[in-house]
Amino acid sequence: MYRTKTCGELRLSNMGATVTLAGWVQRSRRMGGMTFVDLRDRYGITQLVFNQDKDADLCEQANKLGREFVIQVTGIVSERSNKNAHIPTGDIEIIVAGMQVLNCAATPPFTIEDDTDGGDDIRMKYRYLDLRRHAVRANLELRHQMTAEVRNYLGGKSFIEVETPMLISSTPEGARDFVVPSRMNPGQFYALPQSPQTFKQLLMVSGFDRYFQIVKCFRDEDLRADRQPEFTQIDCEMSFVEQDDVLCMFEGMTKHLFKSIRNIELTEPFPRMTWADAMKFYGSDKPDIRFGMKIAELPAELLRGHGFAPFNSAAYVGGICAEGAAAYTRKQIDALTDFVKRPQIGAKGLIYARVEADGSLKSSVDKFYSPDELLRIKYLFGAGPGDLILIIYGDDAMKTRKQLSELRLEMGGRLGLRDKNSFACLWVVDFPLLEWSEADGRFYAMHHPFTSPKPEDVHLLDSDPGAVSANAYDMVINGVEVGGGSIRIHDSELQQRMFRLLGFTDEQALARFGFLTNAFRYGAPPHGGIAYGLDRWVSLFAGLDSIRDCIAFPKNTSGRDVMIDAPSTIDASQLEELNLSITAK
Ligand code: AMO
Repeated sequence: MYRTKTCGELRLSNMGATVTLAGWVQRSRRMGGMTFVDLRDRYGITQLVFNQDKDADLCEQANKLGREFVIQVTGIVSERSNKNAHIPTGDIEIIVAGMQVLNCAATPPFTIEDDTDGGDDIRMKYRYLDLRRHAVRANLELRHQMTAEVRNYLGGKSFIEVETPMLISSTPEGARDFVVPSRMNPGQFYALPQSPQTFKQLLMVSGFDRYFQIVKCFRDEDLRADRQPEFTQIDCEMSFVEQDDVLCMFEGMTKHLFKSIRNIELTEPFPRMTWADAMKFYGSDKPDIRFGMKIAELPAELLRGHGFAPFNSAAYVGGICAEGAAAYTRKQIDALTDFVKRPQIGAKGLIYARVEADGSLKSSVDKFYSPDELLRIKYLFGAGPGDLILIIYGDDAMKTRKQLSELRLEMGGRLGLRDKNSFACLWVVDFPLLEWSEADGRFYAMHHPFTSPKPEDVHLLDSDPGAVSANAYDMVINGVEVGGGSIRIHDSELQQRMFRLLGFTDEQALARFGFLTNAFRYGAPPHGGIAYGLDRWVSLFAGLDSIRDCIAFPKNTSGRDVMIDAPSTIDASQLEELNLSITAK
């Protein structure tokens, strides 16, 4: 047996016991005739003590240990004179009587401690070393707990986990596919699933009734802090349900996870906000409702005709009121102006107005407006003394609202309103079914083509498709879209109409999705579901800034795994086998 105890479990109650531990040398230090070694394993860190006076040979061996050597020690648990309150084993140490070096280690390229000196790139290249760090490992442990609790909850509600294939054909979730050439079918390709969407619907046709799967999905899209090319969904589907049934079931799962993982009891029903309100008041379909600061729109009749040119020509003028920020300096306002003018945000400028202690407005544009008009502006924002009003204008209402959303989040951050340990859950409902693309001159499905229009809007499908609402919903926590789903179309006729609206000819629709519309002809139950982004949810619970930190072996922002150096070229013989040739562009 290599060990009798782990490095995380010994306490004062174990004093006097002889134990054998095995692990990695995190660091060692010599003080007088003593050598102290921090021994680390998955469970924690235990201090080992070697005493020159008691056993000079052993102490000499200890002095030769390098960082990350793998060792086994036997010794007696003793009380520490110099206790360390920061670690659970900090009251004890092991007086080592025997040691065996199980393996030497090359000097690691960065220190494997919570506060590491390793930059992102080097830690990704040596991810297996990074994973030894407590903070990183804890994220994976949290991830494991979450999937265990998901299985607990859904298992208890009669959901069964069914695996669906990875080598499939294109799934229309709006991203590009990753494709895999087929050797046995020359010139043909599989696509990796962007989600198991069509398969879970087929499982409903098969009568499975309640399905879930914790499943890898693949999307070739531009990467951001909350996006990975391969990520994990908690994918779910239910039969004989309406929207409310799905929302209730998964609100229950969300509450269960909050309680079991974070010990947070969410007793109230989650608020539900229509997509239209989310866009109007927050400029985003995933509003962070931990704080107010809602967007207020300023009516044109109030602003126009006063000589302030930008307001005269703008299609939309709106703003937010940052409570208590009137004391913002010129420099701080300039920084905010630069922030909104950044190309990624693209605002034309920022107008500000402070509410003075006497309630009057002091603004960069006040000379254009009468005191009464300024009071009306103040009133529209519900602003009081000490508040700072920030206004953006633009030619396109939707774009300007999105810019205001960025500004709102920035101000929320600056004012400390986005505490990572407070959580605000929200359902966003009533999404539009379709989204018009100016560039392509056609409609796209806002969720995916299998989402059901609201029955009361079906009559608009031909006359005014853009006005049709969908039975679709997203779950948003702290401004992060953690999940999304919908009630599906289960009627093959309606599904055909939807494909036509999306620009597919009947032949194209048949070729791509005939398997599904055909299945619907054999008795498809009404069904609906949802998929959560597990990585996003774990990072939210762990308070991480990027989902990479809760993925064991993530890709970098260029989609590369720098540890194994993927993607990479393949041998000419492999290309030949696959009937492929590469031409340089
Ligand atoms: P959707 O495309 O909204 O829906 O995806 C569901 C959830 O998956 C997460 N997610 C991602 N996480 C990390 N990296 C990515 N690239 C990424 N893309 C999406 C998000 C998102 O809310 N089939 C439908 C679900 C359904 O209708 O049931 C679907 O995939 O948290």
